[in-house]
Amino acid sequence: MTRRTIESGEPIYSNKALAGPNHALSIKSPMQSYLQRFDADFAPKLNKRAKTFRLMFELLEANCRDFIKIVETGCVREEGCWDGDGCSTVLFNDYVKARGKFSSVTSVDINADHLKLAKQLVNPKGEWFHQFVLQDSVAWLGQRPGCGSIDLLYLDSFDFDPQNPHPSSLHHLKELAAAQKCLIPGSIIAVDDNHADGTGKGRYVHDYLNDLGIPILADDYQKVWIWK
Ligand SMILES: C[S@@+](CC[C@H](N)C(=O)[O-])C[C@H]1O[C@@H](n2cnc3c(N)ncnc32)[C@H](O)[C@@H]1O
Repeated sequence: MTRRTIESGEPIYSNKALAGPNHALSIKSPMQSYLQRFDADFAPKLNKRAKTFRLMFELLEANCRDFIKIVETGCVREEGCWDGDGCSTVLFNDYVKARGKFSSVTSVDINADHLKLAKQLVNPKGEWFHQFVLQDSVAWLGQRPGCGSIDLLYLDSFDFDPQNPHPSSLHHLKELAAAQKCLIPGSIIAVDDNHADGTGKGRYVHDYLNDLGIPILADDYQKVWIWK
């Protein structure tokens, strides 16, 4: 499997892939300004993830639903680790706070210390719009209460080991399988930690979505798709 590199300024999504009830890019949302905030405050720190995180926020901005739901597996485990891990928890928290209108994020992680740090960093007051779940991600996604739809499913849990790639790649495929019932046309799926040789957390997710005929929107260190 080869990876398509995102060149500077090159569009990294196609209108065809975005066609759907939740992604009317022609409609300007009042939150367009979030992209300016992202570009100014976060993109410079994100390095290899800057363009693909921006794509996720562009797609969320084009989602006209009154409120959106983000689910991430694997929370922030080190303060300021923008280049290393990506600080997804901090970004998603910032976005749902800015978007308001009952948008929310859930972070599920198997490590209590990591969750404790994440809560301290982004939600020390325990506000409702960011929930934290201490559980194996596959088990939780499989039992997810209420099973409301997910607008962005961000998979970044079980660490990838290049010497032993299978367990991590398989775990992320299991996460997608467990979450599939919560996906709706237009749901964004993203997987972190992918490498130029085709290995990474998203290896089997990529194979599976390809077999389903779902085109990849961005094939880089982070892989991004839209469910249909
Ligand atoms: C790479 S870190 C996540 C980084 C975070 N997304 C960020 O951008 O800063 C991976 C996290 O996944 C968690 N993890 C590992 N295995 C897991 C599992 N089976 N279920 C849930 N979380 C898991 C680890 O405890 C760790 O906190």
